[in-house]
Amino acid sequence: MSGVYLDASATTPPAAEVIAAMAAVQAQAWANPSSLHGFGLAAAEALERARWQCASHLGCRPQELVFTSGGTESIHLALVGAAACLPVGRLLISAVEHPATEAAALQLQARGWQIQRLPVNREGLLDQAQLAQALEPPTRLVSLIWGQSEVGSLQDLQALGGLCRRAGVPLHVDAVQVVGHCAVDFNSLPVELLSLAGHKLQGPRGIGALLVREGLALQGVFGAGGQEGGRRGGTEAVVLAAGLARALELAQAQQCGPGERDPLAKLRDGLLDPLLSLPGVQLTGPDPRRAAARRLPHHLSLLVGTEGGQPLSGRALVRELWREGFAVSSGSACHSSGSAASAVLMALGFSEAQAASGLRLSLGPWLTPADLAGVPAALARARQRLASTP
Ligand SMILES: Cc1ncc(COP(=O)(O)O)c(C=O)c1O
Repeated sequence: MSGVYLDASATTPPAAEVIAAMAAVQAQAWANPSSLHGFGLAAAEALERARWQCASHLGCRPQELVFTSGGTESIHLALVGAAACLPVGRLLISAVEHPATEAAALQLQARGWQIQRLPVNREGLLDQAQLAQALEPPTRLVSLIWGQSEVGSLQDLQALGGLCRRAGVPLHVDAVQVVGHCAVDFNSLPVELLSLAGHKLQGPRGIGALLVREGLALQGVFGAGGQEGGRRGGTEAVVLAAGLARALELAQAQQCGPGERDPLAKLRDGLLDPLLSLPGVQLTGPDPRRAAARRLPHHLSLLVGTEGGQPLSGRALVRELWREGFAVSSGSACHSSGSAASAVLMALGFSEAQAASGLRLSLGPWLTPADLAGVPAALARARQRLASTP
């Protein structure tokens, strides 16, 4: 299929090196790692090699890394597993969490936990003073999205995590959009739990990890056979773990050093002026020209209206842009209420109509400036067609 893929925040194409690494492990280490014969031992060895490699790229100890099936499962294990070891209390989350966190929070609510959602500002950023205040008892657990998938905001994790540490409240961070794009050194982060997913960084689908700080009590969510230190039962996905390890290695090699500009941020920033000069188009989330450190480097999100400023449907724009050869996302799923408005954009203070006009472009290393050159004109044509449709 041809087209320019600008939807990295949804998923990414697996890197050729990842596919090759998985093929090699699939051929040699296909057995059950719990089996005591030589085939099983080879699989167990491949699994532990992958765990060591992942841990070294993420700055954690191998025993702190639990392989899961992806971001949703990691988040569920973090919240439900940690809460099971705590007295019932209050869980703090932000108003712009991924649905996976909302779903886990609702499970805790059914078990008697209070849920408090911290508001964000117009850029999707949390207020430290509000978090500090909310950390009073009975708050016993906090879960925050580090890099917001729809509007790209990157929370100041050092500051927010420092507040949680000082209050003695464990913090889980949803780093699904961050890992692969920003350096992550678990050892030096003020967090107890961190979730990630392989498919956001050109790794395989179906694998993720939860990092669990040594000493933090966590009850496994599937009992089963005691795999992953009793924290995640079920026969381990050795091949996918090897793919995740290779993807993390590639991502680390691509990350820029201190003082260097992220190549994807450079590509993204080249699109800003041409897109924002279209009347009726505005940026959502932090403006990277003013606050680059507060925005995911590969992420650009917009509200798109007619030249007169009338909001257009983000979902219709996605279809029109695909006709132009660009794969993007609207960032708003159709909710059961029937409204296409994004809850995240509404939490940032946009109206329901504006919150249904979101468009997200998220980039990856497979793109060149030439791939992106036609985006502004394609968007202008796409919205022209929509604006003239009765
Ligand atoms: C911020 C964030 N958290 C969690 C998830 C869920 O991850 P997965 O799709 O791997 O379950 C996603 C996926 O889009 C995400 O963007």
